[in-house]
Amino acid sequence: GKGGYDHYMRKEIETQHVSLANGIKGRVGPDGREPDLDDFPPGAFEGVERVQFVACGTSFHAAKYGTQLLNKAGVAAQAFRASEYDDAIPVDRETLVVAVTQSGETADTLAALDRATKAGARTVAVTNVMGSSAAREADDALFIRAGPEIGVAATKTFSSQVVSLSLLAHRVSADAADESPWDDPAAFYDALERLPDHVERVLGREDAAGVADDYLGSDAFFFIGRGLAYPVAIEGALKFKEITYEHAEGFAAGELKHGPLALVTPRTPVFTVVTGDDDETTVTNAREAQTRGAPIVAVSPPDHTVTDAADAHLPIPDTHPDIAGLLANVQLQLLSYHTADRLGRAIDKPRNLAKSVTVE
Ligand code: M6R
Repeated sequence: GKGGYDHYMRKEIETQHVSLANGIKGRVGPDGREPDLDDFPPGAFEGVERVQFVACGTSFHAAKYGTQLLNKAGVAAQAFRASEYDDAIPVDRETLVVAVTQSGETADTLAALDRATKAGARTVAVTNVMGSSAAREADDALFIRAGPEIGVAATKTFSSQVVSLSLLAHRVSADAADESPWDDPAAFYDALERLPDHVERVLGREDAAGVADDYLGSDAFFFIGRGLAYPVAIEGALKFKEITYEHAEGFAAGELKHGPLALVTPRTPVFTVVTGDDDETTVTNAREAQTRGAPIVAVSPPDHTVTDAADAHLPIPDTHPDIAGLLANVQLQLLSYHTADRLGRAIDKPRNLAKSVTVE
């Protein structure tokens, strides 16, 4: 049941510290510097030259996050929307194809997986459902252990995907390099162990409900970010449009001035996701929108300079930059939820959508 919450989505948001703890448990090596994934011991990915992710919707956004982490570690990686993964895209035996799918039953993703298998690629399914088609059809599976998700909007499973993909990225990149490509792996694993606690702290805050009220009735809602914050921005926009039916778009922060800025007015809040120290240019991009009258809502750690520019703030605890995006996304989940709730939407079953899309 809904466990006392008004909606499954709310329950699934509010219990993320538990599902995340479950996804992390036993998966950090004893030295706290590397992943411990049963089916993927050290060396499991030797010979992998490049990684291609295939996924749809929210799972695609998690895949994009994984791509960024692998690229940071020096591994060539790309994320494809599964429906665009056609025969023109080169795949070979040195390519690891990772299908990211919560349900394991999404037709577009299964078709892409099938294509990769036929091309001789090695395949891994990152999924929530044991025994799902993706888990059965891929060479190997990595389970995100989020528990069942009933709400059509993917929330806790995005967070669990990000954690599992981080661990996978660490394993793949360590196997591809002679020595760890990560600057300070202990700092990352320390942040991972503290993640459930950090998520709980975000869940205990009430800023998202207030921001939802303040900007209700806006003409459109924009979300911007760069680097690891970019997948969070486009995920924030997808969740928002999916359950509020309001117009929402996510943009790479640097792209605003190449077209979308024409849409910006005092009636289009710009949610600015900033998760790393190197995001100063994003602050400049947000100010460009602010000059045209747009309210800026910073989604960032408390002391980031973006807060000086912001009209409102959705704060996240200070943590490792590789995992901070997950916390920012929890704030955006709450924002979408509260906005949809104020508008009286069918939050768990938005119109025209299905939890699992089994047609191409
Ligand atoms: O089960 P999957 O992860 O393969 O589903 C992919 C998308 O259909 C799904 O993430 C969809 O975008 C969600 N409803 C978004 O909240």
